[in-house]
Amino acid sequence: MNEQIARAAEILQASKFTTAYTGAGISVESGIPPFRGDGGLWSKYPPESLDIDYFLRDPEGSWKVIREIFFDFFKQTKYNQAHFLLAEMQKHGLIHRIITQNIDNLHQEAGSTQVFEFHGNSKSLICLVCLQAYHASEVDLSVLPPRCSCGGLLKPDFVFFGEPIPMDPLNAAHEAARLSDVFLIIGTTGEVMPANMIPPMAKANGAKIIEINPEESNYTRKITDVFLKGKATTMMQALYDALFSPPLENN
Ligand code: APR
Repeated sequence: MNEQIARAAEILQASKFTTAYTGAGISVESGIPPFRGDGGLWSKYPPESLDIDYFLRDPEGSWKVIREIFFDFFKQTKYNQAHFLLAEMQKHGLIHRIITQNIDNLHQEAGSTQVFEFHGNSKSLICLVCLQAYHASEVDLSVLPPRCSCGGLLKPDFVFFGEPIPMDPLNAAHEAARLSDVFLIIGTTGEVMPANMIPPMAKANGAKIIEINPEESNYTRKITDVFLKGKATTMMQALYDALFSPPLENN
């Protein structure tokens, strides 16, 4: 593995524009279960709960699941060492943009900037009638579904299945796929459209692909150049040490 780490460090040091592309796996060690795989959220909750048609048909039923997953649970989570080291690498000019599928806000809380959230963010709610935005902490979720002062239904400001990707992160992701010399993919199965098309676009434009994941993903055998098989915190620490630890004295 040391050889792979050294190769990844060399690629990152030579890169002029590196994008980190992250999925639920980078937040697993913050205690947030992934969506798929053992213990995944979709093995406990029906994915339909996050389908926009279901939400509009049964807002109370959908909000019960949303509150349990994204509010009761998310609010007690904290960023982990992988998020932190990614932010440190950005401060050292080794990461230039983060495209995340996650809605947990942990990249920002770890100090990262230039974060584009492909699926929105669970920290804000929006009124479906007057579009008034609310911070989740200022909304009483003891009564479901929550309503705006105008009486309109409030919806979490993240992308439900069946909803379009917001233009800002979509454009930022396509631009990253054009500009990047390197994509550092951390913790994603690569299963969900259209997010999963971004890394292959970067590869087609000549980007080198470094992937961190304890399991193989849809990318590993297709586009990955350097596969760092392991947990995000372990691999990010090893990568960070290879990038910044003083070179061993040649004795
Ligand atoms: N470190 C790194 N990766 C990990 C770890 C870990 N400690 N634990 C699990 N993983 C990997 C899994 O091997 C898997 O490849 O994280 C990935 C989690 O996969 P998913 O749950 O499918 O998450 P993701 O790919 O981000 O899902 C994409 O699906 O339901 C939608 O909107 C949701 O954004 C989400 C999208």
